[in-house]
Amino acid sequence: MKTIFSGIQPSGTLTLGNYLGAMKHFVQLQEENHCYFCVVDEHAITIPQDRLKLRDNIRSLAALYLASGINPEKSTLFIQSEVPAHTQLGWMLQCVSYIGELERMTQFKDKSSGKEAVSSGLLTYPPLMAADILLYKTDLVPVGEDQKQHLELTRNLAERFNNKYNDIFTIPEVSIPKVGARIMSLQDPTKKMSKSDENQKAYISMLDEPKKIEKKIKSAVTDSEGIVKYDKENKPGISNLLTIYSSCTGETVEELEAKYEGKGYGEFKQGVADAVIQVLSPIQERYHELIDSEELDDVLDNGADRANQEALKMLRKAKKAMGLGRVKKKK
Ligand code: TYM
Repeated sequence: MKTIFSGIQPSGTLTLGNYLGAMKHFVQLQEENHCYFCVVDEHAITIPQDRLKLRDNIRSLAALYLASGINPEKSTLFIQSEVPAHTQLGWMLQCVSYIGELERMTQFKDKSSGKEAVSSGLLTYPPLMAADILLYKTDLVPVGEDQKQHLELTRNLAERFNNKYNDIFTIPEVSIPKVGARIMSLQDPTKKMSKSDENQKAYISMLDEPKKIEKKIKSAVTDSEGIVKYDKENKPGISNLLTIYSSCTGETVEELEAKYEGKGYGEFKQGVADAVIQVLSPIQERYHELIDSEELDDVLDNGADRANQEALKMLRKAKKAMGLGRVKKKK
């Protein structure tokens, strides 16, 4: 049995990319592992957020975790800001990080480029992410491809800390799905599907109604060749739709190519839309039952208790290793 940790930012309604690249795999992993899943609200405030919207997004993300199949009997689901050890260890790991390595993170470069007022939190985001992971002796971190570089940094920071202070952190492995690790924008398939995209047609939200999903998929950018074939270089739009279809149904890309041989893009897109709706509809139904329920609060209260207990143990070890605090004199 391994210990698993992963987190998602409550910075907007989750997309199909978040589901296929991350959440779907969390549900499978919880069957045989000891799992922690987190709503990383402290990461969300590295860019400006509307206070009331953030609150709604935090609750909504917690409900989506459960609606997607996270079982609170098996997994610990909690909100990052309700477990103060995360920011405490995050600070300690900032002091172990170098500015140069943080500036080299591609997400920092993307999110800060062209902006005048960039928060220092955006730069120090990865040591906080490392703290999330290292507090729980995590063996494996399931994420989409865009988080790979942050995971490499987490491993480096853990090794650096272990060598310099004391060997207390488990070095985590990253787990990236074979299919669905990078779902692309429906409007610009060379760009990642993102919940912060200004063009709503570019992404499918996990809470989009079936009619909207169908409309968005039908207006997805493709090519003029008319052949359903996976070719990421020359047919990025069709390749992305094939990936989505395959991740939703479990059919392989080759099986789907054969199924749609000689058929047009219209029929293929209808198939993609049906597959997505079939996956998201039951999740949406359960979500609406949960969102205003006390059950959701109970799960999050329990999750915070369990996470706090575990995280405090590691925080104490890290403080001791670094020499923080004091040892009381015996009377
Ligand atoms: P976030 O909130 O951007 O995304 C959450 C998860 O969804 C994956 N993902 C995608 N997968 C496939 N295709 C896409 N288009 C797509 N977009 C997003 C992400 O890879 C991620 O797995 N820094 C993290 C949150 C975090 C975290 C952690 C993750 C904070 N602490 C500790 C793991 C462990 C982030 O911003 O994810």
